[in-house]
Amino acid sequence: MALREIELLGSKALRRPASPVESFDDELRRLVADMFDTMYEAEGIGLAGPQVGVSRRVLVVDVKDEEGGRQVHALVNPEIVHSSRESEKNSEGCLSIPGIEERVERPVRVAVEARSPEGEELRIEADGLLARALQHEVDHLDGILFIDRLSPLKRRILMKKWRKQREKKR
Ligand code: NI
Repeated sequence: MALREIELLGSKALRRPASPVESFDDELRRLVADMFDTMYEAEGIGLAGPQVGVSRRVLVVDVKDEEGGRQVHALVNPEIVHSSRESEKNSEGCLSIPGIEERVERPVRVAVEARSPEGEELRIEADGLLARALQHEVDHLDGILFIDRLSPLKRRILMKKWRKQREKKR
């Protein structure tokens, strides 16, 4: 088990659009394994490459579904190929902005095409929390954070809270 350091808000790594993965090799599979370890250690439900300082289009998610099962995915070069017109607001947080949560409006359903870490083609039809987590993580690959999807006022309030919280930790 290998943990990687999680980049926090303010890190440039979070803002750099990530590059596509070209080789499906052991290094990629090690990255994916480390990302799962890091996500579980931090008790998150999703993590993207840039959050561990790796500017590659890789994400992992582990989300409970409504039937009590789990949706565990490692996606390489994921693309959202379809988004529902219907959207909904629900609470989100991010391991790179700990302690901050807010309701974000997103499409309810998405279809995502990607490769597995072994290079196989995948297609996932997702709704609910999985759809939300996938959209959040794909945003990370483009340098976008969930706070970017809020109104300027909401964002300002949260950033104030974030700064206060950070000062306390020093
Ligand atoms: Ni996040």
